[in-house]
Amino acid sequence: MNRELEPPAGSFEAAELYQLRMALKSTYAQRLQDLQDMLDFNAEAEARNPRLRWAAARLRRPRVESQAQTWNSEGYDKNARFVTDLGAPVLELLAPKPGEHILDVGCGDGVLTKKIADFGCSVVGVDSSADFVASARKLGLTVVETSASDMVFGPVFDAVFSNAALHWMKDADVVIGRAARALRPRGRFVAEMGGHGCVKTLLSALIEELDRRGHDGHAANPWYFPTVEDYGGRLAAAGFDVRYIELIPRPTPLPGDVMGWLTTFCGCFTAVLPEGDRADYLECVRDRIKPDLCDATGKWTADYVRLRFAAYLRH
Ligand code: BEZ
Repeated sequence: MNRELEPPAGSFEAAELYQLRMALKSTYAQRLQDLQDMLDFNAEAEARNPRLRWAAARLRRPRVESQAQTWNSEGYDKNARFVTDLGAPVLELLAPKPGEHILDVGCGDGVLTKKIADFGCSVVGVDSSADFVASARKLGLTVVETSASDMVFGPVFDAVFSNAALHWMKDADVVIGRAARALRPRGRFVAEMGGHGCVKTLLSALIEELDRRGHDGHAANPWYFPTVEDYGGRLAAAGFDVRYIELIPRPTPLPGDVMGWLTTFCGCFTAVLPEGDRADYLECVRDRIKPDLCDATGKWTADYVRLRFAAYLRH
């Protein structure tokens, strides 16, 4: 976080301005890429000019490629609509009241966010996927394209809400801190995420199959499935009074073949492999988990475990 770009806490407009500045910074990164491409076409000039050589060497420093999950709204709608359909219990725990200001962290395609808005609340969604943000905006929602750990909202919200998103955010303390900062005094943070042991069978197969191919399967794992003690402790340390927190095993019937789930959610694992090996990798994962997750009639069930909580800011 660049401190000089940080807006004063409490200012919603300043937060928007900050997000805009971040967007400009990514445009700047694109300009650097253009410059690098130009230099690639001018190798001769570079060889003659020491300053150009120096600049080119800096631009060519290896970049850390993020193996970030990418989202596709269409695929999500087909293979993962159950994620929002099963959001009723956490929505009930949030108990939104008309007129409340609510921040939905990791709002995805906005289907659940819209349900909160339909209670008469003023809702702001946050998501780092441009594709999801575009879909959510089509529902008429206000959405900021940013990661949760880069959110800079001041204390303007009555509640921070999140469904099925926090387990993608390994920098949990930063995210919890940002949520706390976005809340008015005694505001609530109500969320559901994958909890300890979630998709254990699926995850073991994804990791083991990468290991077998000579890769580090654990390193590719994008998920963080905490225990009650772990996440509850982090919430308490950030100034929350944790009034409810529970780990809930929830075997989840899938809408079709598990391949739909694998292609929707497992981009971080397949990204490790050359494109040509990815389909075979997923087929091998499917073969490994079939005895445990597919019944005699061909119906697939994912071994989900939820962590659900309601925590209130102490001050
Ligand atoms: C979950 O919602 O728990 C989940 C979703 C995708 C992958 C893993 C877990």
